[in-house]
Amino acid sequence: MLPTGKEKEIATMMRYVVLICALAACVAWAAEHENCGECDREKCPRLTEANCTTGLVHDKCQCCFACGREEGQLCNNRDEKCGEDLECTFREDPRLDDQPQATCVCKYSELLCAEDGRTFRNLCQLMAESFRSNTTIKLRSRGPCRAAPKVISSTGDMVVDAGDELMLACESDGYPIPVVGWTYTGAAGSFINLPVDDHMAIQARGGPE
Ligand SMILES: *[C@@H]1O[C@H](CO)[C@@H](O)[C@H](O)[C@H]1NC(C)=O
Ligand SMILES: *[C@@H]1O[C@H](CO)[C@@H](O)[C@H](O)[C@H]1NC(C)=O
Repeated sequence: MLPTGKEKEIATMMRYVVLICALAACVAWAAEHENCGECDREKCPRLTEANCTTGLVHDKCQCCFACGREEGQLCNNRDEKCGEDLECTFREDPRLDDQPQATCVCKYSELLCAEDGRTFRNLCQLMAESFRSNTTIKLRSRGPCRAAPKVISSTGDMVVDAGDELMLACESDGYPIPVVGWTYTGAAGSFINLPVDDHMAIQARGGPE
């Protein structure tokens, strides 16, 4: 139990704290509604769902509609709101000297296969492309589209002297991910399958970049 004097002191302090908090809330509210003025919807830009890739959002004054931001775009202030299926997320890769930055990130991360055989990085990319092309892109399946393995580029056949070093590289495409192998053909025509190291980079490509 605190002495009565002490209790009073705390009560007064609490009042100050409450007052200061109320002031802070007021300042925050004023900052948010700064320059908003009366809402005159006649002056709002004429936007419909058809104008915006990711749908409509309220502007910072809660008066007009604005286009939602797309995946990868910044959402650092109240003028920059993410559109449908997107979440404003702090970037995890800022450099130490950078200001923290937030960008719109898709709520769904699953790769999707469209009926036309294109693989999309996520639902947001599919929806955005659907909007841009003004077509309904239908879904074939979840996950990347299956595609036959294909060599995109390769160092090809090489002839070297015994003892020389040799580096072979091959870029391939397909899903499931193709396995690449090399065969050594000796002077006498003998074949050996060379061991494949794990210097392999896998890249998932979404629809059109
Ligand atoms: C919205 O789209 C309509 C129809 O395409 C167009 O006439 C109008 O200018 C667009 N509005 C804005 C603000 O871009
Ligand atoms: C989009 O497609 C619809 C129906 O196919 C068509 O009526 C409309 O004019 C198209 N819009 C644009 C902007 O091309």
